[in-house]
Amino acid sequence: MTTKSQALLNWIDERFPLTSTWKAHLSEYYAPKNFNFWYFFGSLALLVLVIQIVTGIFLVMNYKPDASLNAAGIPVAFASVEYIMRDVSGGWLIRYMHSTGASAFFIVVYLHMFRGLLYGSYRKPRELIWLFGVAIFLALMAEAFMGYLLPWGQMSFWGAQVIVNLFSAIPLVGPDLSLIIRGDYVISDATLNRFFSFHVIAVPLVLIGLVVAHIVALHEVGSNNPDGVEIKKKKDANGIPLDGIPFHPYYTVKDIVGVVGFLIVFSAVMFFAPEGHGYFLEANNFIPADPLKTPPHIAPVWYFTPFYSILRAVTYPLFGLDAKFWGVIAMGASVLIFAALPWLDRSPVKSIRYKGPIFKIALVVFVIVFAILGYLGVLPPDNGGPRDTTSKICAVLYFAFFLLMPWYSKWDSYKQEPERVTH
Ligand code: HEM
Repeated sequence: MTTKSQALLNWIDERFPLTSTWKAHLSEYYAPKNFNFWYFFGSLALLVLVIQIVTGIFLVMNYKPDASLNAAGIPVAFASVEYIMRDVSGGWLIRYMHSTGASAFFIVVYLHMFRGLLYGSYRKPRELIWLFGVAIFLALMAEAFMGYLLPWGQMSFWGAQVIVNLFSAIPLVGPDLSLIIRGDYVISDATLNRFFSFHVIAVPLVLIGLVVAHIVALHEVGSNNPDGVEIKKKKDANGIPLDGIPFHPYYTVKDIVGVVGFLIVFSAVMFFAPEGHGYFLEANNFIPADPLKTPPHIAPVWYFTPFYSILRAVTYPLFGLDAKFWGVIAMGASVLIFAALPWLDRSPVKSIRYKGPIFKIALVVFVIVFAILGYLGVLPPDNGGPRDTTSKICAVLYFAFFLLMPWYSKWDSYKQEPERVTH
């Protein structure tokens, strides 16, 4: 470093903890040396968050949250998205980056969560990292749901109608609650305006705050790894973990490999199949919202469908409350139950590498069940038919994975964890 730049750095360091922050979180943050590709997804989630915020800022420059009809009889919001796609230079690219980014976000986050399940990253002392993660997941779902209303297509309108109506199933407060969410008795311009405000300001702020808390908590306790071994237990004379390597440059460089791989797949989808064969952008959403015409089949976007299937799987009233209420409870529980994981897993070891066959089978069944529920949620219901029965069985297995975990994780056999990470 030249004397001038060193002098500038000293000047800054005397006023702001720049060098010490760089050291604490990058050049002297010791991460386990055995990270594999599953550890790409945290950085990739950060990358997608940045992509969504930057493309979002540019979309807002031309998007109009207005449900009134223009001279051609098209809702202004819908027309403004078409204007971005056809007339704004590069607008199509920005919009497809944002819409593909939404699905990419969920793919990356689901894989990131699955890594947590594989290696027991939610276990002590990382419970708070996990809880912040679950809060991020909830915020992400809210963000995606409200964003989907903005193009004001048929699916935006009717999807929001179905989901907001669910809140009215809550006893006593339900009807008022859905009225507050909508700002009206039906999904209308008032709803569009408040969803816009939440989508562009409120929820992104919450998301960013939660991500910061997530990473601060991670750096407080240190990263887990594919062996589930605590590297802080074995340190050298300088107090540096024997199995740790500085995050920068080792993992900053390694993460670039993940970023390049991700961007190749992301670009392929964005340029060649931005609609994701109707899964990323649904066909019905290319039709302007029409409050007088209900589409024959209303389905949420793919990333919500496992939970939506659980909602639909509940068809029996109980304790004088109708099935819709219990469906909403089951759907809410199916997301929130992730928060209980740190206290449900009683295995003596963290990583799947050293867990026994019961846990391994349970995890495989859980993944299959999650995929089946996701698939069934896209299809129309067949009340009492084979799809309905399958989703009921899958919903039971979904909850069994969590609720029986205290027993099967304790009884299951296990291999002794190694003293040091394996390489
Ligand atoms: C916007 C979304 C998210 C971002 C940007 C994010 C970011 C990160 C980053 C950068 C790391 C460190 C690198 C890595 O271990 O991969 C990390 C670790 C972790 N994240 Fe996330 N995360 C997000 C969502 C979630 C969610 C939804 C969960 C779980 C519900 C979660 C659970 C964890 C856990 C347990 C770790 C520690 C992993 C370990 O040390 O093995 N994260 N996250």
